[in-house]
Amino acid sequence: ASERKFFVGGNWKMNGNKESIDGIVKFLNEGGLNPNTEVVVAPSPIYLPYVRGKLNSQIGVAAQNCYKVEKGAFTGEISPAMLKDNGIDWAILGHSERRHVFGESDELIAAKVSHALSCGIKVIACIGEKLDEREAGKTEEVVFRQTKAIKEAVSDWSKVVLAYEPVWAIGTGKTATPDQAQEVHASLRKYLTDNVSADVAKSVRILYGGSVTPKNCKELAGKPDVDGFLVGGASLKPDFCEIINARS
Ligand code: G3P
Repeated sequence: ASERKFFVGGNWKMNGNKESIDGIVKFLNEGGLNPNTEVVVAPSPIYLPYVRGKLNSQIGVAAQNCYKVEKGAFTGEISPAMLKDNGIDWAILGHSERRHVFGESDELIAAKVSHALSCGIKVIACIGEKLDEREAGKTEEVVFRQTKAIKEAVSDWSKVVLAYEPVWAIGTGKTATPDQAQEVHASLRKYLTDNVSADVAKSVRILYGGSVTPKNCKELAGKPDVDGFLVGGASLKPDFCEIINARS
């Protein structure tokens, strides 16, 4: 894992206000973060320019979603061009809440990934199986299907980070064990070797997401195919700095 720069994303989801965001920005700006870790936070869209304006420039800012075309009659949507225009370089796409609460399909996610990349927005592409799918032994089938749709939308993998977030571990306090995470990450890398290229498989960062905490982050970070985290709840608290520094 050593040649891949450790990456920690904080997905704030639909949380925060200016007051609480000021607190998060303060601990991140002053946090003594390991310079060998790439850090990106994803506020609600209404706070994107606010956060970008306050955060140290070495910390990246991501949208939690964006649409598949540049502009037009798409009420409520935000385009990658608008993100760029506001100094935002990243977008999370295919998050399980977008898939399962808002009904986004593999096809829509692929179209969003493709358009975002074509506009110069880097992508944190999320995949992950639901509990019933895991229990039915379908974890690989599901994450390979999701990854296939994404890979067809990607030509430059240096602009993409994959996030494996088993749905049953998100916001539940039930983390995948380090071995469970490692197993899926290794299969994903094998999938990329077989279906994209050995170079991409070796260089792409695969993050784990789902109830990551300061307590469990070190052991997960010790796994050879875990290259970082996508953190929800714990990214709103000062402990997030400990997760960022899990590899130090
Ligand atoms: O995108 C991060 C996420 O879905 C995990 O959330 O709260 O379980 O860390 P959480």
